[in-house]
Amino acid sequence: MKRNNHSHLPDLHSCTVAVIGLGYVGLPLAVEISKSKISLRSAKNLDRKVIGFDINNERLNELKAGVDKTNEINKEEFLLTNNLEFTSDNSILSKADLFIVTVPTPIDNNKAPDLTALKNATTTVAKAIKNRIHDTLPIIVYESTVYPAATEEVCIPIIESITSFACNKDFFCGYSPERINPGDKKHKLVNIIKVTSGSTKESSEWIDDFYGSFINAGTYKASSIKVAEAAKIIENTQRDLNIALINELAIIFNKIGIDTLDVLDAASTKWNFSKFLPGLVGGHCIGVDPYYLTYKSEKLGYYPQVVLSGRRINDGMSNWIVEQLVLLMAQRKINIGGARVLILGLSFKENCPDIRNSKVFDLISKLEQYHMNIDIVDPLICPKEVFKMSKLSVFSIIPSEIKYDVVIAAVAHDQFKGLSDLDWKNIANLNGVYIDLKGIVPKHISSFRL
Ligand SMILES: NC(=O)c1ccc[n+]([C@@H]2O[C@H](COP(=O)([O-])OP(=O)(O)OC[C@H]3O[C@@H](n4cnc5c(N)ncnc54)[C@H](O)[C@@H]3O)[C@@H](O)[C@H]2O)c1
Repeated sequence: MKRNNHSHLPDLHSCTVAVIGLGYVGLPLAVEISKSKISLRSAKNLDRKVIGFDINNERLNELKAGVDKTNEINKEEFLLTNNLEFTSDNSILSKADLFIVTVPTPIDNNKAPDLTALKNATTTVAKAIKNRIHDTLPIIVYESTVYPAATEEVCIPIIESITSFACNKDFFCGYSPERINPGDKKHKLVNIIKVTSGSTKESSEWIDDFYGSFINAGTYKASSIKVAEAAKIIENTQRDLNIALINELAIIFNKIGIDTLDVLDAASTKWNFSKFLPGLVGGHCIGVDPYYLTYKSEKLGYYPQVVLSGRRINDGMSNWIVEQLVLLMAQRKINIGGARVLILGLSFKENCPDIRNSKVFDLISKLEQYHMNIDIVDPLICPKEVFKMSKLSVFSIIPSEIKYDVVIAAVAHDQFKGLSDLDWKNIANLNGVYIDLKGIVPKHISSFRL
């Protein structure tokens, strides 16, 4: 890289952008950047190039063929892209001016942050900026969810040590959390306000203008990188806790003998009651992000109580649900060992093919401990992927030739919400138990609902 004494930022309108990690977050981002032709902020023409970089060649080959198995981008949207190249070739990355990192940040078996992919991606970026030949200084923006201070304490030191460059002198950093909701066709990248931040005033303005050039909903400039990181974490932590409260209430109401959804409907008539629904909390955001916050908090000597108790309630729901099911089966004199169970939905949430960290797997493993015979139907997930991961077979439609002892409505896919009373009744035998975790089974048919 040609070193420059003055901080000189790339041209906003004609910069080359590398998106590192092309999953649920990275692909829509790369596509939107490459689709935008006129800046929403300056009204000037945009002539940007986008390098979509990933280490998974299978994923890259699908994307090159215009196929996105996450269902976030359809064929027509692929055709609207311009100057977008998909690659796993590191050498191309040194052409980029702006690097946006969108790799996974899961937790490990001890529920501690697993920053392996983030560190690897940062290493890739560092090597690219070391070889970069430009008059301008590069900018690295992280979108992966991290705990507050991770960008400054983990990522920037990696870049500095590999390149021997100094942050804010030879390169700039930023953080801009992603808020997309996979499977949600209404809240998409461009119509959600984008929080932005940068390592200096100048770079934070540049980063904000960059996102503002194509995000219709506009941007919000956070006062620092740490503030932007924390904002993301608390959005999901708050949601986790709100659901945990309703899950705990569902346990209490079950003991009292009243229906949770009836109570929520009644309470929701008050103007300031927030209606959250009970359910399994899986996936890689809501059930994971709070642990990033608690990890950081514990490192600083404070053991979070409210946040972790919410996590315990939500993680314990599958156990409690299976206990209720077994009780109901015993009351109806249904043999537990060998009972035929149909589970509707395997993904971690409705209308989305993502199975990572789905709590339905937890439910299944608990049912298997009772030697129940389980079938699963999910029209959206990829059966091959599930089989590879868990040896479970999944139907794409409800088998019509079997009458089940137990039906568990676990995920509210539109396909299940569209079932008629008769369709529901036909799934189980007359004495069958219907467990409704999502409020989608007609109330007069369900035997138990959360
Ligand atoms: N999916 C969501 O709903 C969502 C929403 C907001 C924020 N986030 C956060 O965004 C980040 C990405 O999540 P995602 O759901 O898009 O993940 P994902 O698993 O769908 O995609 C990540 C991609 O990164 C690639 N990758 C992994 N290591 C890499 C490396 N070293 N270099 C280049 N590519 C690499 C993987 O092959 C994969 O294609 C996470 O931090 C997540 O918490 C996700």
